[in-house]
Amino acid sequence: MARVFSGIQPTGQLHVGNYLGAIRNWVAVQAEHDCVFSIVDLHAMTIPYDPAELPQRVLATAATLIGCGIDPERSILYVQSHVREHSELCWILNCITPLGSLQRMTQFKDKAKQHQENVNAGLLNYPILQAADILLYKAALVPVGEDQVQHLELSRDLARRFNHLFGETFPEPQALLTRAARVMALNDPTRKMSKSIPGSFVALTAPPEEIQGLIRRAVTDTGPRGESMSPGVANLFTLLESFSAPETVAQFREAYEQGALRYVDLKQQLAEDMVRALTPIRERYTELMSRQDELKELLAYGADRARAIARDTMEEVRDKTGLVLGTSAAAPTAARAT
Ligand code: TYM
Repeated sequence: MARVFSGIQPTGQLHVGNYLGAIRNWVAVQAEHDCVFSIVDLHAMTIPYDPAELPQRVLATAATLIGCGIDPERSILYVQSHVREHSELCWILNCITPLGSLQRMTQFKDKAKQHQENVNAGLLNYPILQAADILLYKAALVPVGEDQVQHLELSRDLARRFNHLFGETFPEPQALLTRAARVMALNDPTRKMSKSIPGSFVALTAPPEEIQGLIRRAVTDTGPRGESMSPGVANLFTLLESFSAPETVAQFREAYEQGALRYVDLKQQLAEDMVRALTPIRERYTELMSRQDELKELLAYGADRARAIARDTMEEVRDKTGLVLGTSAAAPTAARAT
């Protein structure tokens, strides 16, 4: 059974882009695969953040994931920094990563532009830690959104490089994409939906009025209607396909083809179906957040299970990379004298 690994940053407020691009697939593969899902707090430290808020963001992320249907008994759900082996493997992979391949990463270039006052080494090395996450569990499948495909290529590259230098150890992980692998920003459909663009996203825990307002304000056509569907309308159709019944989608598509589609109707239907789909997630989230001790216990249980796998991998990695001194070495004189 191929192992699945994926990670998510503890933004605290996950959005429908995260859900449609990744989490929905995590829930789907749980039934048939051995899954490991990580809340990647070490990755979140690469941009400015408030240490006092991080623990609540981590717990809110865990509650949302469980609210979406991640089963912490069946799958391993844990916090990245609670398993120290991530940092250790990250260092070893650092030593076999060409600098040029990091500088070419589009996410690095974007974030470096966005946080010009703090272009730290963590931001550059971010994809190496991501590779360490995946390889530590020898995962073969990685369900992610399209924006992570380039990082996944580096992970494959590092697996190959490590195997070549030190002997066959890691499988080359494959990305697993959904049909909505790139959900666009509601207020600017030329960019991807992102927590860092206010007004661009619908949080999975947003109340109905907020969802309705965001969809109502979503950009459709900016100029006169052209030959092909505008990015804003295409994005609304992607959302409709994800949240509404196939007959409903077919009806709206037909109206569009005939030039009879009223965007206000499309938006109203989408908002209604989104509210219906997200309400149970919000309710489970709210309930779990009122029982934080239980959440912490679940995450500690997940970390124990993750650590057991991570330790085995690191034992093998240490051995293959020459970090184990071996048992046949003579004891030092001082030790022998006592
Ligand atoms: P993060 O936290 O930014 O996003 C979590 C997941 O959501 C997907 N996603 C989207 N999918 C479609 N449309 C969007 N607008 C959208 N926005 C986000 C992301 O592709 C991702 O799958 N680097 C990762 C976290 C990570 C990781 C890993 C992932 C760390 N280690 C190991 C896989 C394997 C990230 O920043 O995700």
